[in-house]
Amino acid sequence: MKTQVGIVGGGPSGLLLAHLLHLQGIDSVVLEARSEEYVIDRVRAGVLEQGMVDLLDAVGLGDRLHREGLVHHGINISFGGTRHRIDMHELTGGRAITVYGQNELQKDLNEARRATGRPLYHEVESLTLHDIDSASPSIRYWHNGAAHELRCDFIAGCDGFHGISRPSIPESAIKFFEREYPFGWLGILAEAAPASEELVYTWTERGFSLFSMRSPRITRLYLQCAPDEDINQWPDDRIWEELLRRLTTKDGWKPNVGPVLQKGVTGMRSFVAEPMQFGRLFLAGDAAHIVPPTGAKGLNLAGADVYVLSQALAEFYKSRSETLLKEYSSTCLRRVWRAQRFSWWMTSMLHVFGFGEDTAFDRRRQLAELDYLTSSRAAMTSLAENYVGFPIIES
Ligand code: FAD
Ligand code: PHB
Repeated sequence: MKTQVGIVGGGPSGLLLAHLLHLQGIDSVVLEARSEEYVIDRVRAGVLEQGMVDLLDAVGLGDRLHREGLVHHGINISFGGTRHRIDMHELTGGRAITVYGQNELQKDLNEARRATGRPLYHEVESLTLHDIDSASPSIRYWHNGAAHELRCDFIAGCDGFHGISRPSIPESAIKFFEREYPFGWLGILAEAAPASEELVYTWTERGFSLFSMRSPRITRLYLQCAPDEDINQWPDDRIWEELLRRLTTKDGWKPNVGPVLQKGVTGMRSFVAEPMQFGRLFLAGDAAHIVPPTGAKGLNLAGADVYVLSQALAEFYKSRSETLLKEYSSTCLRRVWRAQRFSWWMTSMLHVFGFGEDTAFDRRRQLAELDYLTSSRAAMTSLAENYVGFPIIES
């Protein structure tokens, strides 16, 4: 089998890239290790930047997003029992974020792919990459009990943090930058109407907590926990007790309680692979970088990467010029490091480091930073422009 671009991974990066290439008349094959249901049902991101929404609109994927997504003009930062609203819309000249679950975006992307009639294979096994530093790389894999080889002009490694694309690059040709955090997030989805129209990021002595949502009927909540927290130690009553303790504010605001539909623990990590390319293999999304979720940037970075890659591939097929392909990694890394800095900053301001240790100085420093952030227009503007994100299409 032969195609122009072989795409490893059918998550948001892989399928959005496939769609962008299709619009440029470029053929691709998408190979995904998991079942379609598994990929759709994974509970993950919820916040789309303005630039991501603009990109989805521009490529005809914005209809359901605009019907069902929740547009937010501000966020709340809570500490000392008081919520402080940051009016992102006013501070950024009219930009906003949209709350639209990754599950929903994934459904839209799967549907868009199906509508093109181009190939998307799920449950592929034993996938390996070959000759990635040559002009005709290939992908070998098993599907439905048969071995296949796909010859390509290019390979896009869109297979997430645990995929095989990044490890296929020789160690001497790639460098990693990494930071692990001594905590994780315990997250739940609850069948309860959101008690606030906007997100609430909360600092407490007991640790961070986040109030978010998925729809007018579903609340999404997180609390800072140990990185290896055993979810079995957290029956629903204990989760609610801790969430209410951290999130309730002095004015009596608290999240509405309801049946827990899903729960899980996520570790936190900052990670960047440089460069994001080796030969004819291009890494995109979580395969190349991970941010802690506090800045809500992961999915948006994935969208920006594949937009840049689609433009570079389009230029190649139009004129055989490799200029944009050569610039792919450095173009993406500028945005990636900006998002890394922002996500690290949000994380280090809002989480309690080292329970039980003598961190009294750090806690005072965090409170001073939160006080500054919520009382200085300059500081709020900096948060707002980073949080709503920088344009993708102009980049
Ligand atoms: P993935 O979604 O990981 O997709 C990669 C795909 O490749 C997977 O489907 C996988 O099955 C497949 N694959 C792996 N190995 C192989 C193989 N060998 N062969 C074939 N296929 C393979 N981001 C935000 O922007 N905003 C948020 O609010 C936000 N919140 C988050 C909350 C949580 C709890 C978590 C975990 C993440 C959050 N993120 C958020 C991050 C966001 O979910 C990811 O950045 C996003 O999923 C990246 O998309 P991707 O397609 O690059 O990778
Ligand atoms: C979410 O709704 O899942 C969410 C929102 C904001 C974040 C992270 C996750 O920073």
